[in-house]
Amino acid sequence: MQASTSAAGEPALHGRVSISARAAGPSDVAALARLINRAYAIEAAFVDGDRTSEPELVDLDQRGDFLVIDRVGGGLAAAVYVRANQADGARGYLGMLSVDPDLQGLGLGRRLVALAEALCAARGCTAMDLQIINLREELGSWYRSLGYQEVGTAPYTHRDAKRPLHFVKMSKALTGPG
Ligand SMILES: CC(C)(COP(=O)(O)OP(=O)(O)OC[C@H]1O[C@@H](n2cnc3c(N)ncnc32)[C@H](O)[C@@H]1OP(=O)(O)O)[C@@H](O)C(=O)NCCC(=O)NCCS
Repeated sequence: MQASTSAAGEPALHGRVSISARAAGPSDVAALARLINRAYAIEAAFVDGDRTSEPELVDLDQRGDFLVIDRVGGGLAAAVYVRANQADGARGYLGMLSVDPDLQGLGLGRRLVALAEALCAARGCTAMDLQIINLREELGSWYRSLGYQEVGTAPYTHRDAKRPLHFVKMSKALTGPG
């Protein structure tokens, strides 16, 4: 499906990124892995290695959608993974939200979260779930500013940790389309 959002509406983004988001395809996998690993390098203080790999992205794409915003002139500016919960279909999940470090703080992250929420609401989801590393306090604050609340914790499973840490689970109720 073609997803769309006004990503160039922010004055600082004008002419730097595509005007709409789109669903990623197989030809985007390499650029997607580069973008996500570059954005998640901020977690190198807590965990080892890259956040993701091309095989993992191909696998995830079978069960959900990567929404991306293109950089004008080539490359990806931002991406998010979104899917409806396969067990009950009523809860959406978003993850791997990544904005190129050169373009952070300009509204792209907020716009992709809004688009992921709209997509899940249109598919009948009544809530969105995500999880963050507990040590990312600024990120918890950022998601709270978007209406998410802490709802629990879970063991951290993605990479080898350099210090004790866990996931904080966050959720937000979604309002249906229209
Ligand atoms: C987290 C991330 C996705 C945010 O995207 P971004 O494009 O930089 O953020 P935005 O520009 O959309 O932020 C928009 C708003 O958040 C506000 N904000 C920024 N930091 C904040 C904070 N710590 N607390 C509350 N609000 C904050 C901004 O003021 C802005 O509000 P405004 O539009 O009303 O002025 C991005 O920084 C990133 O890719 N980080 C690395 C990867 C990562 O951590 N991903 C998330 C893992 S779950």
